[in-house]
Amino acid sequence: MTEIDWNNLTFGYIRTDCNVRAVWRNGEWGDVEVHEEETLPLHIASVCLHYGQEAFEGLKAFRCPDGHVRVFRSDENAVRLQSASRALLMPEVPTEMFNDMVDRAVRLNERWIPPYESGASLYIRPLLIGTSPQVGVHSATEFLFVVFVTPVGPYFKGGFQTTPYVITRRYDRSAPLGTGRYKVGGNYAASLRANREAHEAGYSCEFYLDAKEKKYIDECGSANFFGIRQNTYITPLSTSILPSVTNKSLMQLAEDLGLKVEHRPIPIEELATFEEAGACGTAAVISPIQRIDDPETGRSYVFSRDGKPGPVSTRLYNSLRAVQYGTVPDRYGWTRVVL
Ligand SMILES: Cc1ncc(COP(=O)(O)O)c(C=O)c1O
Repeated sequence: MTEIDWNNLTFGYIRTDCNVRAVWRNGEWGDVEVHEEETLPLHIASVCLHYGQEAFEGLKAFRCPDGHVRVFRSDENAVRLQSASRALLMPEVPTEMFNDMVDRAVRLNERWIPPYESGASLYIRPLLIGTSPQVGVHSATEFLFVVFVTPVGPYFKGGFQTTPYVITRRYDRSAPLGTGRYKVGGNYAASLRANREAHEAGYSCEFYLDAKEKKYIDECGSANFFGIRQNTYITPLSTSILPSVTNKSLMQLAEDLGLKVEHRPIPIEELATFEEAGACGTAAVISPIQRIDDPETGRSYVFSRDGKPGPVSTRLYNSLRAVQYGTVPDRYGWTRVVL
């Protein structure tokens, strides 16, 4: 094994020892197999390649200060993948099978789990694809479920920091009755251009409004949004955003910290009233937002004048990290010790 510089990992891809796979054929899941190769033998007419019949998940395993390795809320990822399966006519991966394959992929790649001190973690990517060949637009009849892992670096190299975001009105990532609430590739393909343009303009991420009326806040790139005002955690309710496991956890922790929680449509003007704002997701837990610019109206919604994260976001961030690293009691059973 080549020496890994655990302290300088990015959110990229590094080959690990193996991945685990199962094939759905003739109406049932076959045995789980361990594969060392990182490529798939895929038919050129596979439905996933042409018509996007695929869904994926993203979660993490953490090496903790007590020496154990914990996986965070994988049941939630299993349930979310099942909802995508129903939407895209794919077979559901039962929660137990999902968890077993996740645990197996983590255990078999134990030497790739970064040390606690590095702040890095093991990213787990379950992927479900329609593999059988077809050129007509129909559901596949065979599917592959694969779970692979790769070590990823801490999101905040220089510490927990705020960054600027920009509202995009030129592109939508998903429609109100479309697939935005599922973790399917098409949503991400639709976001690539907006994301590149935001980066080129010096922003860390693009920020979407609801596609129908452009009146309400949807989400930021690949993270949910929340705002803090008067001891209240406010996060959008929308049919076109991904129900984030991190956001769900933060809503609970916010309540535990004595905040009120509001989960409802948020009109864009309300941005002007927030004392703090953040983007939340598996990659960073919370990415505090410095400001959101709206180039079409010329407005800039500033949440952090000194560039520092706000006190509530910081408390929420530390609370969630403490559960993930097993340094506080796991009162809701969110983590599973796999090693
Ligand atoms: C579009 C989108 N929204 C939100 C999230 C955050 O979800 P989670 O907290 O489950 O990682 C993600 C994934 O990370 C995402 O891709």
